[in-house]
Amino acid sequence: MQINIFPLNLLKNSQNKASIHLIGSNLSTLDKSDIQNDIVNTKDFYQNKDSNYTNSDVKNYEFSDYLESTTYIESIKDALNLRYDFKPNSGKGVILSGICKDKIIILIGKDGDQSTKWKLVGSCIFDKVDYICHQNADLIIDDIEEEIPHIINQIAIGVAIKSYSFTKYYKAKADDNKIYFSNLNIYVSDKILEKTKELFKDTKAMIDGMNITRNLINEPANVIYPESFANYCNAIAKEVGLVAKIIDKEEMESLGMNALLGVAQGSDKPPYLVILEWWGKDNNKDNNKDNNYQNNLISFVGKGVTFDTGGINLKGSDHIAEMKYDMGGAGVVTGLMYSLAKRKAKINAIGVLGLVENMPSGKAQRPGDVITSMSGQTIEVDNTDAEGRLVLADVLWYVQEKYQPNTIIDLATLTGAVKVALGNNCAGLFSNDDDLAKKISDIGDKIGEFIWRLPMGTRYDEQINSSIADIKNVGQGYGGGSITAAQFLKRFIQSNRKWAHIDIAGVSWNKSGDKFIQKGATGFGVILLDRLIKEYFENN
Ligand code: BES
Ligand code: MN
Ligand code: ZN
Repeated sequence: MQINIFPLNLLKNSQNKASIHLIGSNLSTLDKSDIQNDIVNTKDFYQNKDSNYTNSDVKNYEFSDYLESTTYIESIKDALNLRYDFKPNSGKGVILSGICKDKIIILIGKDGDQSTKWKLVGSCIFDKVDYICHQNADLIIDDIEEEIPHIINQIAIGVAIKSYSFTKYYKAKADDNKIYFSNLNIYVSDKILEKTKELFKDTKAMIDGMNITRNLINEPANVIYPESFANYCNAIAKEVGLVAKIIDKEEMESLGMNALLGVAQGSDKPPYLVILEWWGKDNNKDNNKDNNYQNNLISFVGKGVTFDTGGINLKGSDHIAEMKYDMGGAGVVTGLMYSLAKRKAKINAIGVLGLVENMPSGKAQRPGDVITSMSGQTIEVDNTDAEGRLVLADVLWYVQEKYQPNTIIDLATLTGAVKVALGNNCAGLFSNDDDLAKKISDIGDKIGEFIWRLPMGTRYDEQINSSIADIKNVGQGYGGGSITAAQFLKRFIQSNRKWAHIDIAGVSWNKSGDKFIQKGATGFGVILLDRLIKEYFENN
């Protein structure tokens, strides 16, 4: 999806596009005569359309039935008011949209879920334009409200998220005759043009990063495996100026990364560690070093299990095919690092990906094996399907030893248990730092990627003591599986570091699609962390 911002005076009328009007408490841009001219017999319009439009959610919000009998916008509002209790200035936070000819009208209530409201307007716009089969659409906003640039950004994010689909492997299925909505021009008044454009530049970088993440996660495991993932990282790093470093199996052996290597040993595909460095604060790393650069250094660590069969503790056949998305954490870190570099974020950040495939074979690790991790702590591998924490143990240790970051955020599709606890719309958060945890969940609330902090503590920690080694990789007893997993990671966090772990097992993949997103990889985490950096880590 191409999205561009233009000044209002460049707006041209043309037959070959959709035009979108937003009507709401802040955005009352539609005038009566305008809509009168455009009213067509919507019944005919719908009857003539051989559509298989099934998006029931948007359909529910149609008010096109009213367009026939009403001749001006107040009447529409009245009608809506009766049917949906919609009050533009004081009422519910509903979003109602309708199509009349090539004009799309979206009415927006004042309240509602602020974090997702404008994103929802964006997805609504995508659905509507796509439905009436236009390649191009204009979105006209001639309001002068202060907040409008931010709102436009949210809308653009909504359009961009909803418009993404992964159709690369449709060959026989490809519908070459369908016209795809692929170009949105947003027209704004001169007063807010510069500010809107400036904000949008960063948003675009972030969306590009998010799409990289989604592509990586959607790719099947025969295409994205540790080596191909690492090669891909090399390529995008060159494009945006990230420093990419790749550590292969031999080097990991000499570093003593036996926890990660143990997971990898059953597979024919060798593991890789990828490091993506972004030096945006001062391009000379050595200078930074003199200034105690670690004080400002943030690192992101991603679980990159390109396929998780469970190993010898083989998974059942029900959900095993989904396990190509077990590299979701690494996917997010890659997309995030890309977006930080692309928008030239004024920070120093290190992204590290632990890339392995977890396979059963004659070479595979056995349940009960004891290995010595890079940290020196010994681990009893009680269950080979609890492999993510083994990979992260060494990657977390590595980044601390090598870079001494003062903040570490890891992302991992770590436990099925987090789905049970929080479902598919909320990620689990664990942290040793209240301030960092609050910042992350506050940003999540603001942008609509919800995240909920779960407890940690000694009573959980005791559950991962082993009778044969320093620690074992699954908790004793039943329940709290996401917490014991986090406790395991915490044993590999050095005492002076701020650390947050985000369990994204429930939120990385959308099984059926919803009003915000098509089915498949969600990219959850890229916007969250990009905004976290922007709000709290840049310029200080
Ligand atoms: N990759 C899985 C977790 C997962 C489950 C991610 C479902 C996405 C969807 C992880 O490696 C795993 O298998 N965890 C086990 C841990 C158990 C053996 C302690 C789990 O959650 O069942
Ligand atoms: Mn597993
Ligand atoms: Zn896994």
